[in-house]
Amino acid sequence: MPDAPAAVVIDNLLDPVVHRAGLLAALRDGLTAPQKRLAPVWFYDEEGSRLFDEITRLPEYYPTRAEREILLAHAAEIADTTRARTLIELGSGTSEKTRILLDALDGGGHLGTFVPLDVSEETLRDAAEALSALYPAISVHGIVGDFQLHLSALPDDGARLVAFLGSTIGNLDPGQRHRFFTDLDAALWSTDWLLLGTDLVKDRDVLHAAYDDSAGVTAAFNRNVLHVLNHELGADFDPDAFEHVARWNEEERWIEMRLRSRHEQRVTIPELELEVGFEPGEELWTEISSKFTPEQVREELWAAGFVTDATWCDGGGRFMLTLAHPYC
Ligand code: SAH
Ligand code: TRP
Repeated sequence: MPDAPAAVVIDNLLDPVVHRAGLLAALRDGLTAPQKRLAPVWFYDEEGSRLFDEITRLPEYYPTRAEREILLAHAAEIADTTRARTLIELGSGTSEKTRILLDALDGGGHLGTFVPLDVSEETLRDAAEALSALYPAISVHGIVGDFQLHLSALPDDGARLVAFLGSTIGNLDPGQRHRFFTDLDAALWSTDWLLLGTDLVKDRDVLHAAYDDSAGVTAAFNRNVLHVLNHELGADFDPDAFEHVARWNEEERWIEMRLRSRHEQRVTIPELELEVGFEPGEELWTEISSKFTPEQVREELWAAGFVTDATWCDGGGRFMLTLAHPYC
């Protein structure tokens, strides 16, 4: 008789009260700053996760396909080099591409546990259950948590591979990235591994199309953040009164996503006892998506204590995976 799948365990590291208080404080700071901005963490409610999933299938959004191509070409080598017993995935979402890694690691016979970590509980639960059914020999231990806060709480049971895919690292600014890599380095042993996905600097038209697609899915994803604030906090944003803007900032090498107010308007956020005014054309910053050069990735990792073992790009040279480990 085949083994029954091991039960899925989900730990929640987000104290709901503390988490919400932190989000509210950041929201107040962001909406009262001279340049208004929102924390990206508000994007991923159920609808946001669904829209993101749709983005990954858009013809213009190349990163997911490029990263999948690299994983397919090199998963066996990654499994062979790392011989990981535990695969941890940060910002795991649906963990769809991760199946390629799981197949390779499972085939090698070393893997015992898969640990997806995401702030979005619903998405994490669904993914953890689907993966547990697909890989009955592997125990799935999901963590609802924040990869900017909870790296020191990662399970530590030997030979870990930490995957951070989708160029989610690019949604952090340089200071946040350094802090993230340093925290991760402190949480790992020199026998553990990091597999990092980064999108590369390229032609601005290609970048622009990827973040402002013709079907308007990225625009809907960007505007959805206002629906989230309405649902969660009783705010009265009119999402249609804001236009999606994606701009390539050549100097910073990142795409800036913004919401531009179509006319003068006032918004109330009862939970914050706050009223915010927008001028016509005023922009609310929502997200950055940084693009990298291969040397920059190696240097940023090195500055935080990681040595690069291997890098791989897709055939089009658009995206890069890096395998690295802490140097002490
Ligand atoms: N890794 C997947 C999903 C990328 S989308 C892929 O490559 O396609 C980014 C994911 O990170 C979302 O699932 C979102 O909920 C999660 N996320 C964003 N900020 C986070 C944070 N601070 N801590 C943990 N997860 C986060
Ligand atoms: N990290 C991915 C990227 O920067 C996914 C992502 C985050 C994204 N925010 C987004 C994609 C907003 C489109 C729009 O590409």
